[in-house]
Amino acid sequence: MSLRFRLLTSIAAVLVVVLALGEALLCWRATNIVEVEMRASLAGADDIVHQALAQQGERLTAGFLTSLVASFNGQRHIRAALFDSRHKLAARSQTTMSNDIAPAWFSDLIGVGSQTIRIPLPDSANEMPNGVFELQTDPANEIAEAWGQAGETFMIMLLFCAGAFVAIYAVAGHSLGFFSKFIGALQNISDGNYQTDMSEKGPPEFASVARGFNRMVERLREYESKNRALQEQILTQQEEERAEVARDLHDEVGPYLFAVNVDADAILRLATQSKTAEIPERALAIREAVMHVQKYVKAILRQLRPSATLDFGLQVAISELTAFWQNRNPTIRFTVQIEIDRMIIDRPVEDAAYRIVQESISNAIRHGQPTAISISIEPRPENGISITVIDDGKGLRPAIAHAGTGLVGMAERARALNGTFDIADCTEGSGVKVSACLPCRARPGQEMELAN
Ligand SMILES: Nc1ncnc2c1ncn2[C@@H]1O[C@H](COP(=O)(O)OP(=O)(O)O)[C@@H](O)[C@H]1O
Ligand SMILES: [Mg+2]
Repeated sequence: MSLRFRLLTSIAAVLVVVLALGEALLCWRATNIVEVEMRASLAGADDIVHQALAQQGERLTAGFLTSLVASFNGQRHIRAALFDSRHKLAARSQTTMSNDIAPAWFSDLIGVGSQTIRIPLPDSANEMPNGVFELQTDPANEIAEAWGQAGETFMIMLLFCAGAFVAIYAVAGHSLGFFSKFIGALQNISDGNYQTDMSEKGPPEFASVARGFNRMVERLREYESKNRALQEQILTQQEEERAEVARDLHDEVGPYLFAVNVDADAILRLATQSKTAEIPERALAIREAVMHVQKYVKAILRQLRPSATLDFGLQVAISELTAFWQNRNPTIRFTVQIEIDRMIIDRPVEDAAYRIVQESISNAIRHGQPTAISISIEPRPENGISITVIDDGKGLRPAIAHAGTGLVGMAERARALNGTFDIADCTEGSGVKVSACLPCRARPGQEMELAN
């Protein structure tokens, strides 16, 4: 059952109950009014009859009594009747009936019946001894009047309820329209369509919901584009790494394998020519070539699986990283200073530190042509480590050519761990300084020392 349907049926039910209560109240009021009116009319008529009989005294004639009855003709609430000594009807007045007649169920609901007063005529009424003058109320007219008023009031209440219902229907329709738009927009977001903005017009409550929603979508768009950039970076890095591995295999491993092949052929030839004295020399050459190949294969494997090298600690991993680059760039002077023995560094922090150093060295070599790169990782007094990579290369261009995914990735890694990241030209000499701070804990008992 939709919210709109539930809301409208509940409101309709409340309005029906209000109408019914209003009608019940009207009936109760009408009963009171009819009762009071009948009582007053009967008392008034009773007074009139008694006064008239008293005035006549001994001279009470049948003619007078008949005209007294006739004086009640046209009354709306009282009917008068005269009975002679043998209880036979001698005269009766005619009440005026209004045009409107209440339905029987309404008369039953009001429940006011007719009342009768019998006034015995005095013995002195010589023309009608032991006769009875009868007064009887007839509430039909008053009930008809109440019926008319109740009908009018009911119509007014009905119109009011109908108007209220239509107004609520319109407001609810408008409000729920906002929610259905909101649900549609959320659906779009969950389908990955972040180009969904909501109109910020309308009532302040809806406008602030729409503003909050739009801010959220804006953020999601930013994260999505960063995410895409990082994915692209990963793909480019993978491509570069693969090309490097292919080059290494070709340049470093290929010649040795060729040499092994040549030496193996030579051993075969020497063996068939029975020149066994030369064989050990060739075998040694094969062993040496195989050792070279093993060394390079190991280096490549470490490069491919850096996280595995972290199993032996950040210090070992970074030493191997610099050894890897040193091997390829013998002219660059690498300096490594790592003092993290007093710190407990979680694996995600180690991983981020390693990646930041890796990307900084790769950037320095690719973009700066430096002669020296220094890497330092030191504890900071306020529970953290600071990572600094300084090169003496060309430095950043006036404005970084493009804030590439490498820089974004490093900053993201630091931010994800509540750390900081910065890259700038060196203040002294040429080159670039990359600095990052990552949180970690000091080993118990080392906090005071670090603070000093
Ligand atoms: N050590 C550095 N020396 C000179 N320029 C650098 C250095 N590090 C970064 N840059 C500049 O910053 C840019 C962005 O770097 P990065 O985000 O890693 O992207 P990429 O390395 O793919 O170009 C580089 O293109 C380069 O112009
Ligand atoms: Mg880069």
